[in-house]
Amino acid sequence: MTQDEAKKAAAEAALKYVVPGEPLGVGTGSTVNFFIDALAKIRHDIPGAVSSSNASSERLKKIGIEVLDLNNTGQLSIYVDGADEADANLRLIKGGGAALTREKIVAAASRKFVCIADESKLVKVLGKFPLPIEVIPMARSYVARELLKLGGSCELRMGVTTDNGNVIIDVRNLEILDPVTLENKINQIPGVVTVGLFAQRPADVLLLGGPNGVRELKV
Ligand code: A5P
Repeated sequence: MTQDEAKKAAAEAALKYVVPGEPLGVGTGSTVNFFIDALAKIRHDIPGAVSSSNASSERLKKIGIEVLDLNNTGQLSIYVDGADEADANLRLIKGGGAALTREKIVAAASRKFVCIADESKLVKVLGKFPLPIEVIPMARSYVARELLKLGGSCELRMGVTTDNGNVIIDVRNLEILDPVTLENKINQIPGVVTVGLFAQRPADVLLLGGPNGVRELKV
């Protein structure tokens, strides 16, 4: 089984969580692209979706699903999104595609967060994948200096501007033993818009595609 086949299997397994007649939240990335393709089959049951990125909005519109403003939907029943890393407590690193801020907002505004991934994303300790942090451009040097104090090393993601007009700093070499505390600490640095740690609001369900089918983890 290829990695893409595993992503597709996880994405299709998420369809059972979609509540017919209710709008849903849709994330960003290659695994979510498989989910959007799968949504096409049930698009007549979906009154619309809130999207976490311009890229996903375009893909949703192409298959005939209306893209809704989160300000008009109230709480969403589910949010489906991928991850760059996940641990057994369903805490995640996200933001490899630079869409972390909108992803965190839509996840927070949803009753259930269903995370879809191939099983290579499951790790014992988060932090091998560089931790993405969205930062206001004028604060990037200050924020990088503050992040250095927490360990790890910072790298500005070159040539990337987020959908919100900000920059991304990737922090390497972190061994994240206490994700909730680290998320809180980074959130308090002035200039940080969003840290790509989803620990205070982890996923509720993790669907992992692999050679033996799709494994479902819950906390
Ligand atoms: C987007 O910013 C990310 O959070 C993605 O959800 C994450 O990078 C997973 O992407 P893939 O599904 O492409 O692995």
